[in-house]
Amino acid sequence: MKLFLDTANIKEIREAVSWGIISGVTTNPSLMERAKADYKNSIKEICEIVKGPVSAEVLARDAEGMIKEATKLSEIDEHVNIKIPIGKEGLKAIKELSAMGIKTNCTLIFSANQALLAALAGATYVSPFVGRLDDIGNDGMQIVADIMQIFRNYCIESQVIVASVRHPEHVKEAALIGADIATVPFAVLEKMVQHALTDKGIERFLEDAKKAGLKI
Ligand code: G3P
Repeated sequence: MKLFLDTANIKEIREAVSWGIISGVTTNPSLMERAKADYKNSIKEICEIVKGPVSAEVLARDAEGMIKEATKLSEIDEHVNIKIPIGKEGLKAIKELSAMGIKTNCTLIFSANQALLAALAGATYVSPFVGRLDDIGNDGMQIVADIMQIFRNYCIESQVIVASVRHPEHVKEAALIGADIATVPFAVLEKMVQHALTDKGIERFLEDAKKAGLKI
């Protein structure tokens, strides 16, 4: 499973990319607001750092507007894919953009049927939001498992990005289910690296090395 970083924070992106484990970035208007960044410049900078798929979301609500915005965003860098919210207008836009060769990431997916529709319209990626489903008492990961099964049944090529990830357990479950990608906030990535026994183990090794007078 690939890992994308779910942020527009340049510092976080640089750090995570330096770990060698990030192959793409997803952004959305809320993440942009949090990063207090200029939209197009920031997408350009992210693309230069990541050199892999970067999702930038449209703001228009109608298909025509989405397509116009998508065209502008896709001109920023060859790695940009366009986040389009699922809906009737979104499907129309995905269909057109797919015909134009512009990659799309259908976002705000909360059911397997929405994912199926997005894939049939030609979405490159579909993004089920597991955390927000869990928040309302649903089982977000079950939706991911359903989508994966449906896509396998029909050899659907759209890739599944598990989004709205809240904790490392979500990432592990996504990998066990066989999701293509999980897009992860930096804080979750940091938790994934750590383990109390690792810290304790390093401390003990260093103490013993000191006792033994080891030098390299
Ligand atoms: O990128 C979209 C998604 O990951 C948002 O997550 O935490 O706002 O539900 P969240």
